[in-house]
Amino acid sequence: MNLVGRLFSSSIGRKILMAVTGLILIAFVIGHLVGNLQVFQDPDHVNGYAAFLHHWGPTLWAARIMLLAAVAVHIWAATVLTLENHAARDVKYSVRHTIRATLASRLMRWTGVVVLAFVLYHLAHFTFGFAQPATFKENLGAYTMANDYRVGGFPVVAKGESVPDVHSMMILGFQNRVVSAFYIVAIGMLSVHLLHGFDSMFQSVGWRSGRWSRALRLVAILFCAAYFLGNVAIPGAVLTGRLQVHAPSVATAQR
Ligand code: HEM
Repeated sequence: MNLVGRLFSSSIGRKILMAVTGLILIAFVIGHLVGNLQVFQDPDHVNGYAAFLHHWGPTLWAARIMLLAAVAVHIWAATVLTLENHAARDVKYSVRHTIRATLASRLMRWTGVVVLAFVLYHLAHFTFGFAQPATFKENLGAYTMANDYRVGGFPVVAKGESVPDVHSMMILGFQNRVVSAFYIVAIGMLSVHLLHGFDSMFQSVGWRSGRWSRALRLVAILFCAAYFLGNVAIPGAVLTGRLQVHAPSVATAQR
């Protein structure tokens, strides 16, 4: 059997697949957060950034397909590993370990389900515009770039270009308290999911009992807390009135 076949058919292979796809998804959520935090700067930033990503065309689609495949493999491997653990548990573990393992895997399962539901809602919200059509970028007036948007000093979206108003869409969307509350709860679940994901990855590679295990766990906790706070800062700033839409789009949205 070739390497790919062995990855999918053995228990250790599936653990490797879980870890690798988990790392791909973590890289995405970090990049996404860094991009989204530009909402705290003038609208040129997040609007230029979103337009820049959409300019990628086929490369963007390749990245989306890779992301979707990572999600599918991650969920498939998690399901198969959980079923295997259930089958093996009675034989292998003491009662205390069984209870701990059951709680951790239940937590992973339920936080995973909430995160999946969140991503589907989030796509309906900000990508397809079904959830809040009145504040969807395509239904707001286009934004005219006041300055070039530069990446590495190179202008990738030009001053004067008309781009979708993602800045106003985010802010108007989060002015709805129920929507913001759902985002905050879901991102909390995602952060717990990430923390336990790190735990099980460290366990699989034997880093949970070594000399650096406590320091490693602390780094994982700090990372997940920072990730949570970074995301929550956006709806939080909208709800407290610190982030407001720039004037032209307010007029367009209220039309
Ligand atoms: C406060 C938190 C978040 C904000 C403000 C936010 C904002 C956005 C926006 C504005 C878009 C649409 C970009 C565009 O098409 O121009 C988007 C797309 C997306 N977001 Fe988020 N997001 C947040 C959290 C998350 C989280 C936690 C996840 C994953 C668990 C996520 C996954 C995605 C995905 C998969 C897309 C689709 C990307 C694509 O079109 O290819 N987002 N997000």
